[in-house]
Amino acid sequence: MDLADCYLKVRKRTEEICSPLQTEDYVVQPVVDVSPPKWHIGHVTWFFETFILKPYFMGYQEYNPDYNYVFNSYYETVGNRVIRTDRGNLSRPTVAEIYRYREYVDEAMASFLCEAPSAEVKELLILGFNHEEQHQELLYTDIKYILGHNPLFPAYSKEYLSPKIEPVESDGFIKLNEGIYEVGFNGSGFCFDNELSRHKVYLNAFEISPNLVTNAEYLEFINGGGYHDFRHWHAEGWDWVKTNKAEAPLYWHLIDEEWHHYTYHGLEQLILKEPVCHISYFEAYAYAAWKGLRLPTEFEWEAAAPLFSWGKAWEWTESSYLPYPGFSKAPGAIGEYNGKFMVNQKVLRGASEVTTPGHSRVTYRNFFQTNLRWQFTGIRLAK
Ligand code: AVJ
Ligand code: FE
Repeated sequence: MDLADCYLKVRKRTEEICSPLQTEDYVVQPVVDVSPPKWHIGHVTWFFETFILKPYFMGYQEYNPDYNYVFNSYYETVGNRVIRTDRGNLSRPTVAEIYRYREYVDEAMASFLCEAPSAEVKELLILGFNHEEQHQELLYTDIKYILGHNPLFPAYSKEYLSPKIEPVESDGFIKLNEGIYEVGFNGSGFCFDNELSRHKVYLNAFEISPNLVTNAEYLEFINGGGYHDFRHWHAEGWDWVKTNKAEAPLYWHLIDEEWHHYTYHGLEQLILKEPVCHISYFEAYAYAAWKGLRLPTEFEWEAAAPLFSWGKAWEWTESSYLPYPGFSKAPGAIGEYNGKFMVNQKVLRGASEVTTPGHSRVTYRNFFQTNLRWQFTGIRLAK
């Protein structure tokens, strides 16, 4: 597929994710981490306009100079912006106006891509595709949060297909020998800067589960009083449990003594053999501690990943999100993409059921703060 077709394909998928939404669904921001869908569809458009059309398309007319303030997420290099907590307070630009902005930028991109771009622009373009794919997953998770925190539990779409992953029939752990392993990206396609440089790490012998922890297993922790015993938790995790009165994963509801969870189809009965999902790092850690086990490091995960299947939920690791040896930031605004977040976050590996197909890989490093659980996040144990 040529670049112009890749562009159209990624743009179309974003709009398809939003197609079940009503205008009102696009606007709200129930918590700071959840952005209004209309903000996402403007922001990913702004990304192409700001980093490709404005600097590289001769004679391009910016759609609306005010939009930089509204759709700049966090790029200090590019100027001031609406503070994150206020994204949901904007009734203007309207959803219809933002779709017109998308159309305008898409038309400009189509003319721009009539001629083959330089290597430098091609790199930015592919970053733009991967950026929009990250926001496709954020759209899914933000929509789930918006609808799943409505007391009426409206469905997103009855057509949404949740992939079924059968656990492998073996509870034996996979054993890996001590030794030197190589981690980090070394393929020929795209990777994010945080996957570089490829380097060697020494790992002690370890064992890792071929399966994710299931709802049934996690229920044993809940029923065993796991949320009421400080001994399993970090100090910060215990504060989090008490402040948030956490008793179960996000989206779980006990109705007539049966556990239900909110899904894209609405409230449904919990399926016990499915992997537990929507838990914070604090909960993943506490569960592992209660079991007398631990989470893998991101390097153990990467070394062992060819030996198990993954992709149903992002997997919390014990690794802090830090730069690899030789990590360097791109000059200018693009250098703000990943590097400045390398503090106080944990790495997640794998992919989830709402990750854009083909977006992740064994060297992919997702990252979130330890208290967050609105992404599709689960647990793989190690020892
Ligand atoms: C990698 C998912 C943590 O949510 O900010 C979107 C993805 N980066 N736009 C995030 C991202 C720039 C990022 N995460
Ligand atoms: Fe972004």
